[in-house]
Amino acid sequence: MPEPHTRTVVVLAAGEGKRMKSSLPKVLHPLLGRTLVGHVLNAADPLGAARTLVVVGHGADQVRAHLTGIAPEATAVHQAEQLGTGHAVRIALEAAPEVTGTVVVLNGDVPLLRPETVGELVAAHEGEGAAATVLAAEVPDPTGLGRIVRDATGRLEQIVEQRDATAAQLALREINAGIYAFDAARLRDVLGKLSTDNDQGEEYLTDVFKMLVAAGEPVGVHLAVDHTETLGCNDRVELAALRRLLRDRINERWMRAGVSLLDPETTWIDVTVALDRDAVVDQNTQLRGGSVVGADAVVGPDVTLIDTVVGPGATVVRSHAVGAEVGPSASVGPYAYLRPDARLAERAKVGTFVEVKNSEIGAGSKVPHLTYVGDATIGEQSNIGAASVFVNYDGVRKHRTVIGSHARTGADNMFVAPVEVGDGAYTAAGSVIIEDVPAGAMGVARARQRNIEGWVLKRRAGTAAAEAAERALGGTQGAPAVPSSASEGEPIHGGAESVGGTPEPGDTATE
Ligand code: UD1
Ligand code: MG
Repeated sequence: MPEPHTRTVVVLAAGEGKRMKSSLPKVLHPLLGRTLVGHVLNAADPLGAARTLVVVGHGADQVRAHLTGIAPEATAVHQAEQLGTGHAVRIALEAAPEVTGTVVVLNGDVPLLRPETVGELVAAHEGEGAAATVLAAEVPDPTGLGRIVRDATGRLEQIVEQRDATAAQLALREINAGIYAFDAARLRDVLGKLSTDNDQGEEYLTDVFKMLVAAGEPVGVHLAVDHTETLGCNDRVELAALRRLLRDRINERWMRAGVSLLDPETTWIDVTVALDRDAVVDQNTQLRGGSVVGADAVVGPDVTLIDTVVGPGATVVRSHAVGAEVGPSASVGPYAYLRPDARLAERAKVGTFVEVKNSEIGAGSKVPHLTYVGDATIGEQSNIGAASVFVNYDGVRKHRTVIGSHARTGADNMFVAPVEVGDGAYTAAGSVIIEDVPAGAMGVARARQRNIEGWVLKRRAGTAAAEAAERALGGTQGAPAVPSSASEGEPIHGGAESVGGTPEPGDTATE
C-alpha cells in the first residue's frame, strides 16, 4: 500500500470582486445557507486536508472573522496586493514551508462545486501520480474564462486566458474551472518562475501547466460531468443565477427523499436545513439556517423559518419564525411571528396576529388571536383570550409572567409582569392583571360600568343616534325599553370565541 497523500487545501479569496459593487467582500456574499467561501470550504471538507490555507486580501478582517466562525482550523494568509492567482498560491505555500503531498487549490467564488467532484479530481490526480491536474468543463458560453488548450493527441498543452487567447483558442468551449490538484514539490519549483508577461501583468497560476508540460512532467485534465458546478460568480446577476441553480439542486434532493414541495420554483431551502419524509412545503416559503421540518408537518404557503424546528404533524401557515420551536401537531398562523425562544409544546396553537418571544406555551394551550406573549410560561390546556399583552418590560428590565394549566384568561387582558395566574384560574375580559391570581380564582381588574340613562336624548338631541334611541324606546322619552344596566347578564370574558359560552357572574362580580 502506498503512503496516503498528505493533502493541503488552498482557497483563493483575496480578490475584491469589483463587479459585485459591494462593501462586503465577494466571497462573503450569502448563498442559501453559506457564504460563497463557506460553500467552497465545504466542498473541500471530505478531502481530510491536514492544513487549510485561505488567501485573504480585500476585506481581510471581515473574511478572517468569518473563517474563525466557520472554519477555525483554517489559516488565513494575507496577500497585501492582488498580483494574480499564481502569486496568491506562491505566498500561501511560502507561509507553509512544511507542506508536501497534494495541494488542492480552489477559487473562492465557485460555490456550486460538489464535494464528490473535488474528491474525484484529487483521486484521479493522485492515482496518475500527476504533477498537476485541472478541473475542466464543457460550457455553452466560455466567455471570460481560461480555455483548456490540448495538443493533437488530446493532451493538455496550456491554459490560456480569454484576454491572451487567439481567435482559434477563443472558440474552445472546454474551460478551466479554477480548481486544481498539484504535487507540492513540483508546484513550488515552477511557482518561483512565473512571469507577469500577459495582458493583466499578473502571475497566472494557470501558467504552471505549460511550464510543467515543457519540463516533461505529467499533467492531467479532469472533466466535470455537470458544468454548472464550475460556475464562478462575478456580479449579482450571476449570484442570482447560481442561487436558482442551487435551489433546484436542493429541492430535487428533498423531493427524491420523500418531501412534497408544492411549488419548487418559489421554495428556497438552505443547504443546512433538514426535512423529514412526508413533510409538505407549500409555495413561497423560505427555510433557512438550522431549520428542521418534521414528518407530515405542513409549512407554507408564505412562510419564512430561520433556525426554527417544526415538529412532526405541525402546521405553519403565512408566518415568520426565528429561533423558535414548534412542537408536534402544534399549529401556527396564519400571520404569526415567532421570535427567538418561542417554544410551543405539542398541540399548542399560536393563531392570527400573535407574536411570541422567549416563552413556553404548554401542550394543548392556545393563543388564538391578536396577542403579544413575551417572557412567559403558559402551562397545559390553557386559553389566552384575544387581544392580550404580556407586559414584560418596565423600561429597564424584562420580567416573566406565569400562567398555569387549564387557565382561561379573558379577552383584552394586560399581564403586568412579574405576575402569576394559577392553575384553573380565570381572568375577566378587559383586566389589567398586576397581582397574582390564585388557582381556581376569577381575577377581575377593570373599572365598573355605569350607564347614564337618556344621555344621548338629552345631550345629542336631533342626531341620528338620538332618533334611533327614541325609536328603540318606543317614542316615550325617559321610559327605557331595555334593561337599566347594559352589563347585566353579560359575560365578563366576552369577545374571544375560544373562551366558550361559560355563564359568568354579572356586575356584582366586579366588586
Ligand atoms: C481564473 C483563471 C481562469 C479560470 C477562472 C475560473 C487564472 C489566471 N485564471 O480567472 O483560467 O477560467 O479563474 O473562474 O487563474 N485571487 C486572489 N489573489 C489574486 C488574484 C485572485 O486571491 O491575486 C482569487 C480571487 O479572489 C478569486 C480567485 O482567485 O477567488 C480567481 O481570481 P479571478 O480574478 O476571479 O480569476 P479569473 O479572472 O476569474
Ligand atoms: Mg481576474
